[in-house]
Amino acid sequence: KLDIQGQDMLTLADYSSEEIIGLVEKAYEMKQTDHQAEEPLKGKILGMIFEKSSTRTRVSFEAGMLQLGGHALYLNSNDMQIGRGETIADTAKVLSNYVDGIMIRTFSHDIIEELATHATIPVINGLTDQYHPCQALADLLTIKEVKGQLAGISCVYVGDGNNVAHSLMIAAAKVGMHMTIACPKGYEPDEKVVALAQGFAEVTGSKILVENDVKKAVDGADVIYTDVWTSMGQEEENEMRLQVFHDYQVNESLVACAKEDYLFLHCLPAHRGEEVSASVIDGDHSAVFQQAGNRLHAQKALLTELL
Ligand code: CP
Ligand code: NVA
Repeated sequence: KLDIQGQDMLTLADYSSEEIIGLVEKAYEMKQTDHQAEEPLKGKILGMIFEKSSTRTRVSFEAGMLQLGGHALYLNSNDMQIGRGETIADTAKVLSNYVDGIMIRTFSHDIIEELATHATIPVINGLTDQYHPCQALADLLTIKEVKGQLAGISCVYVGDGNNVAHSLMIAAAKVGMHMTIACPKGYEPDEKVVALAQGFAEVTGSKILVENDVKKAVDGADVIYTDVWTSMGQEEENEMRLQVFHDYQVNESLVACAKEDYLFLHCLPAHRGEEVSASVIDGDHSAVFQQAGNRLHAQKALLTELL
């Protein structure tokens, strides 16, 4: 029994290994059974604030709330008074009177921390520049489904040391999965997040590494993961990033270094011909649509427990 009702989900670093594994197990169970008749969140409302675009996060949270008997409100920050300067603190206090939980997708991680400080209801991170914890929960569920285990699996993330890489690294360390981030010099994950993950890894026995040599990193990997080279908010760096990351494409020649039964994952949206070749993402080893589908199940487990 998970005892996390009323908590925020800003980063998986705030959750114990048991809680993270418990959420993945609950998501797996909920995926196998039809919970719609039980309506565990009947009458509950989730407010969803978006300061950036989204397909998967928006639709999976909204569909998930409906399937659990609740309701979700899509709030585009440009249409809210935050867009005209109302403070995050005031927004948090006001929304706490109307809804039972807030999911927010925003830029700086400080914004979500501020929101959580002033809200009296759970705040869920739907992506910040620093973390994407709901994605990592779905990633763990997918790896567990395909590989049958998490502890001892070796996962290599190829590309930018970004929000997705940070959350996957924390998640891996918490469940005893080995993780290497393979990235160009200057695009390593935040040192503080690496140190945090390495601290968790000491307890679970996993290895968390950062490596600039991509072929060396991928050697013998069970899972290869990548994400876009240019994240939301970095659009003006796009041309430069295409050059910097050129040798970090996940393609046939790179995956040849991994285990024969390697699994390919990508949080999506993908850019075929940039971070991944079409042959890899659309090939037999790819489970990216199962992974995208698992966003729904992982978040339903999270919503049921927090709300
Ligand atoms: N993976 C993910 O978060 O996708 P969206 O940006 O479409 O929500
Ligand atoms: N790193 C990407 C993930 C999108 C789901 C971004 O922040 O844009």
